[in-house]
Amino acid sequence: MNARSQFPVETSLFGLPEDTPHEKVLLNADPASGLLSIIAIHSTARGPAFGGCRLWPYSDELSALTDALRLSQGMSFKNALADLPFGGGKAVILHPKGEFDRTALFNAFGRAVESARGSYITAEDVGSTTNDMRAVQKQTAYVSGIPRTGLFGGDPSPKTAWGVFIAIETAMSKHLRKSLNGAVVAVQGLGAVGMALCGYLHEAGAKLIVADINVRRVAEAVHRFSASAVDVDLILSTPADVLAPCALGAAMNSVNVTFVSAAMVVGAANNQLGTVEDGDVLHERGILYLPDFLVNAGGIISVAREYLGQANEHSVMQEVALIGGRVGELMERLQGQPPARVAEAWAREKLRC
Ligand code: NAI
Repeated sequence: MNARSQFPVETSLFGLPEDTPHEKVLLNADPASGLLSIIAIHSTARGPAFGGCRLWPYSDELSALTDALRLSQGMSFKNALADLPFGGGKAVILHPKGEFDRTALFNAFGRAVESARGSYITAEDVGSTTNDMRAVQKQTAYVSGIPRTGLFGGDPSPKTAWGVFIAIETAMSKHLRKSLNGAVVAVQGLGAVGMALCGYLHEAGAKLIVADINVRRVAEAVHRFSASAVDVDLILSTPADVLAPCALGAAMNSVNVTFVSAAMVVGAANNQLGTVEDGDVLHERGILYLPDFLVNAGGIISVAREYLGQANEHSVMQEVALIGGRVGELMERLQGQPPARVAEAWAREKLRC
């Protein structure tokens, strides 16, 4: 098999099918630290591309490229719908095989970010931490998500959880005409966002059903929030008012989308749908799906305001809560159409401005 034939039809070096090509894709290699990273800049139409950096053990380079392209396109939509003065970009680092020096790796990644000369700004994502961003900061100023004494900043996950909570609360009220008190919410993934989301939902009186591959996190949610635990293979098909996917991408795909048994799907995970057609299936089945790039913008709002130096805790929480109004606007725009498609068209309108 030659190298070219290994590329699945849905990916090219310049972008994804049926999408505008990416403006720029940077491949960075630093043998000394073991860094192999991809910085994907989808659009700078609204400003410099802003999006986190994922460290992940990809099975191969093409999977990493595909992930970077999908995630950066999602950031264009997310930043546009959140009315941020930034375009969409994302970086992925291929997790080095064997032992490696984490500080050296992120220093090298910082140099890669610097080489984009401000057209890309980075922050944490799955697999990277505030400490990693400190290492990036040693090499470039184009980084955010760093705790700063006396100033607003740091881990964006609690703000992401807050935005998803607001979206769930709004959709419960507008779509199901119910409050969260006594509602059943199934949460898939109890990481930084999922656990914080459980906290908000528990406080609002929701009954939680949870699943995670990490049994310690499941035990913690059961203990702290009186949650019921189910097997990871069963969370999608658990009957609930809301399913909140907060693990990894493509949680709903052509194999399992028909299993979803909740009335609505509202969660934090990026790229929850394998394809937009999976959203059509949810729509045909009468399940309201609120697109990730609309509801999980709390984190990027947090790191963007930190980067611009315009923020405090109160102002950011208020700005994140505006996601509720956008959920309402999306529902008015639907007119019987699948929300994933309507939200994407809405974001593309804003990208042209
Ligand atoms: P995390 O890495 O802290 O948590 C992910 C959790 O999902 C882990 O507890 C992991 O054990 C669990 N998990 C993995 N595979 C699973 C499976 N098959 N079934 C059930 N659980 C599984 O990540 P974090 O930061 O909580 O992010 C969660 C999702 O939200 C990711 O998709 C991320 O891209 C997205 N997101 C996160 C933001 C943030 O501010 N952290 C911002 C916007 C999106």
